[in-house]
Amino acid sequence: MPQSATTRKRVTTLRLIEMMQQGTPIAALTAYDALTAGIFDRAGIDVLLVGDSVGNVVQGHDTTIPVTLEQMIYHTQAVVRAVDRAMVVTDMPFMTYQASPREAFRNAGRLMKEAGSGAVKLEGGERVVDAVKLMTENGIPVMGHLGLTPQSIHQFGSYRERGSSADEADQIKRDAEALQNAGAFAIVLEKVPADLAAEVTAMVDIPTIGIGAGSGCDGQILVWADMLGMTTEFRPRFVRRYAELAELMTSAVGTYVQDVRSRSFPTDEESY
Ligand code: KIV
Repeated sequence: MPQSATTRKRVTTLRLIEMMQQGTPIAALTAYDALTAGIFDRAGIDVLLVGDSVGNVVQGHDTTIPVTLEQMIYHTQAVVRAVDRAMVVTDMPFMTYQASPREAFRNAGRLMKEAGSGAVKLEGGERVVDAVKLMTENGIPVMGHLGLTPQSIHQFGSYRERGSSADEADQIKRDAEALQNAGAFAIVLEKVPADLAAEVTAMVDIPTIGIGAGSGCDGQILVWADMLGMTTEFRPRFVRRYAELAELMTSAVGTYVQDVRSRSFPTDEESY
């Protein structure tokens, strides 16, 4: 439900923790530009993630791997300009945080300082905790991301769910604990079994935000282009379609083409 000016206080990490404690689910979406970010913010979204899914959704790549830090800065600046309530979180792209904690810290700093993001997100658990610790000890809020971590697609070999074997489930639980101990303020759980996501949610004291992880998480996130029907071929079962924008736009643009061809657009009223 759209919110009035009086309830539009900026969402902070503390507010998210408060929501978790009160049992109020957190609603998150991706955004990559000012136009959509402004609409989602006015509609009452709590967290806008400038996801590296921009690589798939906007740039037309098959994976998120080619996305660069400069591109994330550019997209984040656009989103930040349009938003006055939602917390803006920016994904750290592949190879901007894996090489060393120091490099990760510097790159996260650029996302905060140059792009104006409110927090950063990175993929992985135990293997990234030194970087997470350095950031959180120096004022950079960090959101973790476990389960299906798309930047590891070439290692995984498929986009299947993660955590269905006991070994994978144990690793996800260890990773969640490690992220919490390193100071992360929230964890995205992507495509993990609902019972495992609920177990992790009960285990940690920070909010979990699920995508394809069932209803037991403290919040939900979706890629906006999927939930509004802009992507037509990608239809996993965890995406609920709230609109069919691609159909609507195709039909509207088709009508415009016909109107131009028939010279019924523009009319005298639409001319000077
Ligand atoms: O990049 C992205 O859009 C994400 C979400 C799927 C959580 O990481």
